[in-house]
Amino acid sequence: MLETASENGDSDAAYLLGLLYKQGKHIKMDEDKAEKLLKLASDNLNPEASYSLAAIYSEKKIPDEAAIKQLILFAENSGKVAAKVAAAYVSAGMSPSKAVKLQRMGDYNWNENMADLFIPVQLPDGTIPSQATILSGYATAQRLCNSCHLPGVEKAPRIGNKYQWRNRDIDIAKMSKRIMDGYKKCPPAISAHNNPSLQSVKDSIYFMLWTAFK
Ligand code: HEC
Repeated sequence: MLETASENGDSDAAYLLGLLYKQGKHIKMDEDKAEKLLKLASDNLNPEASYSLAAIYSEKKIPDEAAIKQLILFAENSGKVAAKVAAAYVSAGMSPSKAVKLQRMGDYNWNENMADLFIPVQLPDGTIPSQATILSGYATAQRLCNSCHLPGVEKAPRIGNKYQWRNRDIDIAKMSKRIMDGYKKCPPAISAHNNPSLQSVKDSIYFMLWTAFK
């Protein structure tokens, strides 16, 4: 049934069938067929298919970075959360194929990649955070902040997005205090479940600013 529908140009059917071929669920796994069907659905502007296709392209020996980036951005603009995360990594300086892989792995190797990516950046307040600060900040942000600041929940300024940070008063002492205590829709970093030190919250703010201004 899916087969007929996808031949008739139904992009949802092509997407679902493509996934089944990719995962080898209920049918024999066939990566070429999966790629063709997902490409068909993606060409018909199906954002889910576009992101799955980006994942297939990212696994190739020589990934087509421009094509992957385009697929991520299209899926991101259509509101796909996974694509938003990958897009944030791309704007933080990561290659599109690496960003998709990392998002799909659930971030486990970010620290390794951060080490590859590190470049010193002067922030608007004149400080140049060290790599150790950025790595420590990433670890805290990953635990307590990224869930909102990567996708931009409730208009939280997004990681890697300079335009959403540039009009804020970049005063780290003031910001750290705000974030410890809670500020508008940014919840207090200290809660019943978390007890981060002021220093680690500071580092996570440095991390966010670093991704935005680099
Ligand atoms: C539940 C979602 C959420 C979480 C979790 C979260 N934030 Fe926020 N954050 C927001 C929102 C929303 C804003 C925008 C507040 C505003 O200006 O209206 C914000 C704003 C900020 C700002 C800008 C504040 C200013 O002074 O302009 C900083 C810095 C920040 N967050 C850091 C953090 C850090 C560090 C963490 C983790 C310890 C964190 N946030 C966790 C939602 C969140």
